Amino acid sequence: MRLDLDSLPALVGPDWIDGRLYTCADIFEREIERIFEGGWVWVAHESEVAQARSFKTLAIGRQPVIVTRTDKGELVTMLNRCRHRAATVCQAERGHASRFVCAYHGWSYTPEGRLVGVPQPEGYEGVLDRSALGLKTLRTESYGGLVFASLNDAVAPLSDYLADAKPWIDRFNRQAAGYPLVVLGDHRFQFEGNWKIPMENTTDGYHLPVVHNSYLRFVESETSDRLASVMASDELYCLTLGNGHSVGIFDADAIDLDLPSRKPVPKHYEQLARELSGSLPTADVARILRAVGGVGFNLNIFPNIALSGAFLRELRPLGVDRTEVRHIALGMGGGPAAANRARLRIHEQFQGPAGLGSSDDREAWERVARGARAGGDMAVLLNRGVNRERAAGNARRAHATDELGMRAAYARWREVMADA
Ligand code: FES
Ligand SMILES: [Fe+2]
Repeated sequence: MRLDLDSLPALVGPDWIDGRLYTCADIFEREIERIFEGGWVWVAHESEVAQARSFKTLAIGRQPVIVTRTDKGELVTMLNRCRHRAATVCQAERGHASRFVCAYHGWSYTPEGRLVGVPQPEGYEGVLDRSALGLKTLRTESYGGLVFASLNDAVAPLSDYLADAKPWIDRFNRQAAGYPLVVLGDHRFQFEGNWKIPMENTTDGYHLPVVHNSYLRFVESETSDRLASVMASDELYCLTLGNGHSVGIFDADAIDLDLPSRKPVPKHYEQLARELSGSLPTADVARILRAVGGVGFNLNIFPNIALSGAFLRELRPLGVDRTEVRHIALGMGGGPAAANRARLRIHEQFQGPAGLGSSDDREAWERVARGARAGGDMAVLLNRGVNRERAAGNARRAHATDELGMRAAYARWREVMADA
């Protein structure tokens, strides 16, 4: 389907979007160009490139990049493109390398991207200015362990971009009980649908008791009672945070894990408590038990990263109707093995490939993608709670089951996509 892209702003209303936002390949192309290649995109957690010379590779939009840690400890993001004839110089997804050696003709680069080796240099006398032929580096900035990069040199500072999401990132990091928050591992799946469908899902409290009904029936009643209460409680809310970011609270008691809990330690942590008590002082055990389940909110950072309870969800758009989702488990760096094991079990139970949560989400997202092929320009409604949202300082606030976070994300989408 061809669309006049000048009419894009008309495809997003204050509380609805045109269904073609999920299906139109022209719109997707512009999203890649404007949103992913024009703004900040999350590329790594600092713990994934913790050591000097460690690296990970991924794509920003469609452009392959390498994120590295230099010998000086700096984080660098570079295009994964040899300056000779454009071959990718690093094929591994992650690792440790003192040199990136292009496998085509053997040019080699340091972890900061300097060109240091050119085989058979005799043909290049007076031709090559090596100092100008390093791997192209990109704007790279981090906040609270989250590393972002941009292909746009003129992009505003990351700190401005993250806006009011920053204190929520700080709160999110308190789930490591005083240890550094680190990546324990990740798993991935692809689904046949547009990247914005899971992006919407991050602050969608409305779907929880429905899509996750089987999960709620499976878990012990204290967890299911808490999750089911999303539908009823007024203390659960959604807040806009600027630039398309938003947060949805699903457990008000677990917003700030440095504050004492109003609830007893859940029964399912009793075994962990016993294990930890053998080697740690009571106060440390209490802090870990408080933090082990993660925070009680989902934070959506537009466009591609969600800080969700106890894990990160990264979105990688592969095509208008194909998206890779990565679920990244987080733990306490250097913390007790028993605590990190417990965190992995929690992760597996909901997000894991055999988990009861994400598999249901994925099915729902694919149904959205399939359904949106019918009806062309029919609206997708985002108006739940539109009459009960209210101002809260600079932000807007609504109930946690309302579609406020989605309205905020699409307002940002409209701004970036329509910008001449
Ligand atoms: S393309 Fe990399 S050395 Fe030739
Ligand atoms: Fe879900």
